[in-house]
Amino acid sequence: MTQHEIDKLNKRFGAKVRIGFRLDSCGFPVAALVCKYGSAEISLYGAQVMTYRPVGHGPVLFLSKKSEFAEGKPIRGGIPICWPWFGKSKTDSSLPSHGFARTSLWQVVSSSYSDEVVELTLGLVDTPESKAIFPYAFAAQLRITVSQSLKLQLTTRNAGIAPMSLTEAFHPYFRVMRATNIAIQDLDGAKVDDRVTGEQSIQQGEVRITGETDRIYFPKQAHAAIADASLNRTIDIVFNGTKSLVVWNPWIEKSQQMPDFGDDEYTQMVCVEPANTDLTPLTLKPGDRHTLEMTIQAKLN
Ligand code: BG6
Repeated sequence: MTQHEIDKLNKRFGAKVRIGFRLDSCGFPVAALVCKYGSAEISLYGAQVMTYRPVGHGPVLFLSKKSEFAEGKPIRGGIPICWPWFGKSKTDSSLPSHGFARTSLWQVVSSSYSDEVVELTLGLVDTPESKAIFPYAFAAQLRITVSQSLKLQLTTRNAGIAPMSLTEAFHPYFRVMRATNIAIQDLDGAKVDDRVTGEQSIQQGEVRITGETDRIYFPKQAHAAIADASLNRTIDIVFNGTKSLVVWNPWIEKSQQMPDFGDDEYTQMVCVEPANTDLTPLTLKPGDRHTLEMTIQAKLN
């Protein structure tokens, strides 16, 4: 994107102090949203929230110091949008993990603001390139709202004439002081599908991170919370449009294998991801829509 296009975005969708667009140092267009309760920065490449900072708090999201910020590569951290598949593609395992939304340039659809609420809506539609790997006509929109919380709403519309199946997730990387010192709450009694051990079980009590973690939970309620004893902070996560949450921490070996992630960074993050995975895929009839929603709120204990 050129500076001229950024100027046009600012003219059409910008608002002094509240909404601004810029090219960041690696050339990605970034939107900054600011209201009296907090601020967020969103890369239009991937429609990826990179930072979220409520007033009175430190950063809520983790962004890897080794993230590559290169075209064709996902940004490591913030809130990647996994869409239209989560994990490996069911039809072709050589396709990029977690779909192409996080490596696509999204268009700005609309913006609105007041002192209390700032919103930005981004859109992605099918192209000949997308059709070659995901043979559907679609319109996806992500609405990002910064107010007393950060809310994301991802709406998928089947714009074609055949039923469309997909999987998806919000993949937030939450910043924690020490992953081994957090408790993920509200998952007590949830069914668990453990992708590391292959075992299925029922969660007893709080979830603690003590090793490589890659699990799908089916919580009884549509919320979870990350209690961070070291930061004296709890992050509430409320979701809609799915019944499952993925909890991921790569731990030591996986971190060392990821070129865009620091060897020790697994200690500073945890992903708690509202997701429609391959265990619960979606099918949309022509014209149908589905919305996945997540609200994040940080509270001091
Ligand atoms: C998680 C998956 O959501 O994302 C893990 O459950 C995966 O299996 C992780 O390793 C990171 O994926 P990626 O493609 O961003 O490295």
